[in-house]
Amino acid sequence: GLPARVTICEVGPRDGLQNEAALLPVEVKAEFVERLVDAGHSVVETTSFVHPKWVPQLADAEQLLQRLTLADGVRYPVLVPNERGLDRALALGVRDIAVFASATETFARRNLNRTVDESLAMFAPVVERGRREDLRVRAYLSMCFGDPWEGEVPVAQVVGVAQRLMAMGCTELSLGDTIGVATPGRVTALLDTLTAAGIATADLAVHFHDTYGQALANTLAALQRGVTTVDASAGGLGGCPYAKSATGNLATEDLLWQLAGLGIETGVDLGRLVETSVWMAERLGRPSPSRTVTALAGT
Ligand code: HMG
Ligand code: MG
Repeated sequence: GLPARVTICEVGPRDGLQNEAALLPVEVKAEFVERLVDAGHSVVETTSFVHPKWVPQLADAEQLLQRLTLADGVRYPVLVPNERGLDRALALGVRDIAVFASATETFARRNLNRTVDESLAMFAPVVERGRREDLRVRAYLSMCFGDPWEGEVPVAQVVGVAQRLMAMGCTELSLGDTIGVATPGRVTALLDTLTAAGIATADLAVHFHDTYGQALANTLAALQRGVTTVDASAGGLGGCPYAKSATGNLATEDLLWQLAGLGIETGVDLGRLVETSVWMAERLGRPSPSRTVTALAGT
């Protein structure tokens, strides 16, 4: 059966804006995060404490967190690649962090300037300290299905890195289809193999990109396997600057349309989210790629 309730991890301000050519003023980003919370989101991934040269779009992480009015009961996770990033995040009182690993060597190198082993060695002290400080520590695992340089990624390779991240003490694992090549049968096969390897479904999230129009079908396959945390980006913003051919994330509005039709609760108001994405599209100077935003915002 399907879950009665799904938690959406809204990644628009981070995964969305990190890939926009336009550099938005910090007050626009703060308004974006606050509008997402007002629409009912309980988890809004806000920014990244990475090297500003690597992701200039998020170089204002400190200023953004200082400016935000945090709502009770809402989580504002941030990406943290290393101890330097953790120091910066802790200095601002962050309670939710995410490290981000790769199932493939090429993407680990391009995204983190490290091999897979070296990047896990970089994360280990971050996860350990994070857990000691009682933070939630999500682990992203990118390129779970395909990689633009290495092609199809074997399930065993994904499961191997996943097990190492969970053994490190991460509290959640988000399976990234960074370039959007997955199809539902492969999602089911990966989830079944992870479960058989001892990773609890309750600890898993899915992170789909809609490059080939498969993100909603893949999401449904994951829901049917019991996954209850789904990453999505308001208006379908996003991609990844270090992965060519990665287009936008699954649009949160498209996800909400599907979940509402299935009677699955999220706490997020579709109308308010559409208004937010239309507002953001004006700021970015291009229309939202979300089908649902287009359908509902049309005059
Ligand atoms: P590096 O060049 O190897 O860094 O980059 P380093 O450790 O050699 O340090 C070099 C300098 O950077 C030092 O300064 C450090 O202090 C500084 P110096 O001593 O030379 O003056 N430095 C930092 N400064 C600020 N904040 C920091 C930091 N760390 C070092 N945190 C590094 C290694 C990891 C830093 C770099 O590769 C990086 O920042 N990468 C981030 C890439 C990124 O954010 N990618 C996008 C997110 S992943 C994604 O989008 C996929 C996902 O959505 C899921 C999916 O779809 O699959 C999550
Ligand atoms: Mg992504």
